[in-house]
Amino acid sequence: MEKYIINGGNKLSGETSVLGAKNSVLPILAATVIGNNRSTILNIPNLRDVEIMEHILLSLGCIVERIGNTIMVDSRPLNSIVIPEDLVREMRSSIILMGAMLSRVKEVVITYPGGCEIGPRPIDLHLKALRHMGAEIEESYGQLYCKTNGLKGADIQLDYPSVGATENIILAAVTASGITVIRNAAREPEIIDLQNYLNKLGARVSGAGTSVITIEGVKEFKDVTHTIIPDRIVAGTLMVASAITGGDIILKNVIVDHLLSIIAKLRETGTLIYANENTIKVSGPKKLNSIEMLQTLPYPGFPTDMQAQLMALLSVANGTSIICETVFENRYKHAEELTRMGANIKIFGRVAVVKGVKELTGAKVTAKDLRGGAALTLAGLVSRGTTEVSQIFHIERGYENFHTILQNLGANIVKTN
Ligand code: UD1
Repeated sequence: MEKYIINGGNKLSGETSVLGAKNSVLPILAATVIGNNRSTILNIPNLRDVEIMEHILLSLGCIVERIGNTIMVDSRPLNSIVIPEDLVREMRSSIILMGAMLSRVKEVVITYPGGCEIGPRPIDLHLKALRHMGAEIEESYGQLYCKTNGLKGADIQLDYPSVGATENIILAAVTASGITVIRNAAREPEIIDLQNYLNKLGARVSGAGTSVITIEGVKEFKDVTHTIIPDRIVAGTLMVASAITGGDIILKNVIVDHLLSIIAKLRETGTLIYANENTIKVSGPKKLNSIEMLQTLPYPGFPTDMQAQLMALLSVANGTSIICETVFENRYKHAEELTRMGANIKIFGRVAVVKGVKELTGAKVTAKDLRGGAALTLAGLVSRGTTEVSQIFHIERGYENFHTILQNLGANIVKTN
């Protein structure tokens, strides 16, 4: 099993560029099945989750070709309606193919995704909305059999602004007859990226980025080229890496607008941030301040995908911080590992109380999930002595070349077997 070995103490400095967003690539790759056409997608990170989505598309009969950071998908030869179970188990967000396949071939068989490292991942909102649009969905022995005689546009009020449900409904609605309106839709930038891809394809989607999205069903599509937006969570993680080490780094190819909630919270810790449209400079203070309240929320609130990294930072801040995780109920597995490194963290349900300590000490810790694993790596960068982070396959699901990027910024980190 591969590990990161980190010797803490180095301040990060230098420049790096941010690649495309994993959470944008996956729904857009799923969407490539809709058009019976060719899609060329640029700025794709090299990650296991993307590879799994490529395998799913291949298994459906699509032609998929990858050259560097570009993937070409020809969905014309699509000839299967079954999403392979092992691939769904490895990547739960493959549920997004439900809407896309119903749009294209009116039928799909997919394994019920079940829970994951960060707790239950229910899909009740997805199923309710798709049924409302005319999909018949039967659940049997963990399989979902979905088919329709033709989806119909509908007025859908989401009980919660779920990212995945919003994407699934948009994809299903692209070829549905009539107009679909999603109210209380998720407003994440990745949804705007999906809208932009779909509209280039010939779809008629509007309102992404607001809580009301309208989709007018269409039948004709054209070939498309699309560039994925930069990954705001990778950018945020590197911003914390600079802040926690008292470093000084410049991030290129970011969209500052997507980072505003992260910038605001880091500024509360005393971190200096200078931003223009596509570049951001982050200088860590000598001593970090605690944060009165950090609450994770749907976008544009503070992202749950940055909660763990901020917890690592607050564990060495001056004073006590309160974190409230409102999005995923079981997303504090990193807290126990940080405690092994000397952090003082108490969890009360969805609330974490983080009392800053003078210093963390290196320890053997385990990445239990993607963002939690990144947080342990960040903690290792400031710990006294050596930190060993195991199960880094979780981290590498969301960060391409994480350790080499940190190395290039001056961190003492290596990957070993
Ligand atoms: C997406 C992201 C994930 C990120 C999350 C929140 C992808 C592939 N994943 O996940 O990285 O952490 O957004 O920004 O883009 N819920 C229900 N019923 C549903 C669907 C969701 O109760 O049918 C609940 C979930 O349990 C959770 C909340 O809604 O508490 C948010 O989930 P959602 O926005 O759907 O997240 P994902 O799309 O799974």
